[in-house]
Amino acid sequence: MATRTLGIIVHGATGRIGAAQHLANSLLPICAEGGLPVGGDRVMPRLMFVARNEAKLKAAAELAGAAWTTDLDAALCDPAYEVFCDAAATHLRPRVLEKAIAAGKHIYTEKPLAPSVREGQRLLQLAEARGVKHGAVEDKLGLPGLQKLARLVDRGFFGRMIGFKLEFGWWIFDGIETPAQRPSWNYKKSGGGGVIFDMYPHWRYVVEGLMGPIRRVAAVAATGTRERVDEAGQSYAVDVEDTGHALVELECGAVGVILSSWATRVRRDDLVVLHIDGTEGSAQAGLHRCFTQRSTEAPSTSAFSVSVDPGTDYCGQWREFDEPVSGVNPYRVGWEAFLRHVHAGEPMASDLRAGIRDIALAEACHRSISSRAWADMPKFS
Ligand SMILES: NC(=O)c1ccc[n+]([C@@H]2O[C@H](COP(=O)([O-])OP(=O)(O)OC[C@H]3O[C@@H](n4cnc5c(N)ncnc54)[C@H](O)[C@@H]3O)[C@@H](O)[C@H]2O)c1
Repeated sequence: MATRTLGIIVHGATGRIGAAQHLANSLLPICAEGGLPVGGDRVMPRLMFVARNEAKLKAAAELAGAAWTTDLDAALCDPAYEVFCDAAATHLRPRVLEKAIAAGKHIYTEKPLAPSVREGQRLLQLAEARGVKHGAVEDKLGLPGLQKLARLVDRGFFGRMIGFKLEFGWWIFDGIETPAQRPSWNYKKSGGGGVIFDMYPHWRYVVEGLMGPIRRVAAVAATGTRERVDEAGQSYAVDVEDTGHALVELECGAVGVILSSWATRVRRDDLVVLHIDGTEGSAQAGLHRCFTQRSTEAPSTSAFSVSVDPGTDYCGQWREFDEPVSGVNPYRVGWEAFLRHVHAGEPMASDLRAGIRDIALAEACHRSISSRAWADMPKFS
């Protein structure tokens, strides 16, 4: 068994998602296990952390036994590092990916890949011309609840798909009396913020992965919280939407709705809930749990009563689908696929092409919002 040491630059290593998901839940455990077995070999990551805050970066790198630098260009010049992962703020992404591709690094990127389909396609062309491998984070289908829905789909549980409702979000404080739970760039156009570009890339592969291609969308957006205070205590006007809803029509004829908001207070089973209706049955999943109701189990409801509340427990009429599913962290699943792709050329389903289609849904929503009309999902060859 040969061990290949694979140098990986993690840009945004001290950010929320870089530190928690890419490092603590994925690359650091792979390192601690002595690398990832691939075929008869092992791929052992060798990490270089890049971020802006030197003190924070140094502390994180020393704890992880990683190299570090605040100088991205210097990191990209180092031939000992073949892979570049971008987990830094969204607005920086096209520029840093372009530099990494030019330096000949294989790239693994957070979403959204770029601020537009056109920009994403340009990055793909650059990556292909330079001959580097590429991957894009698409982690949500690895959530246990959505794995259960996928299993039901595979078994034909739903029959013909009729429709769906995907609801996501919670209240993000404005930072005035209670600290905001998300970074301020999420609420600034200049930072690549807005719930549509942040969340709809996920909803593209979730919806299409479970129910097939999206044909068109009709979207609306609103800004619930208009003033916020950032990490430095400075107040700023929010210039992007924190609420973005869409009607969705699928190629198969099923229709659905996506509700996404950081200006809503949760009264539902989970932070993300996806409900799918089919001719043979329905299922609803949260992040972890999934419940089903076959057509034969549906109650025969004829009318509602305006005078008496019968106290019906509608949720109690569902059966939990609790078959065990993979407990591996979805980010780690993505990293393992990418490491196999880089080392052994194994297929990478979530590559830049997938990342481009993810942006296409967000872009279609924005087109629909500005034209106040349905917007088609583009066809990609
Ligand atoms: N896949 C997912 O579910 C998921 C979830 C959250 C965030 N993300 C994505 O991950 C990325 C980071 O999000 P986050 O929530 O971790 O943000 P964050 O603000 O916590 O971290 C961003 C990182 O970028 C760095 N950074 C910010 N501005 C910079 C600048 N001007 N120059 C250099 N570095 C800069 C910060 O130092 C930090 O390390 C975003 O693109 C976001 O869309 C993905």
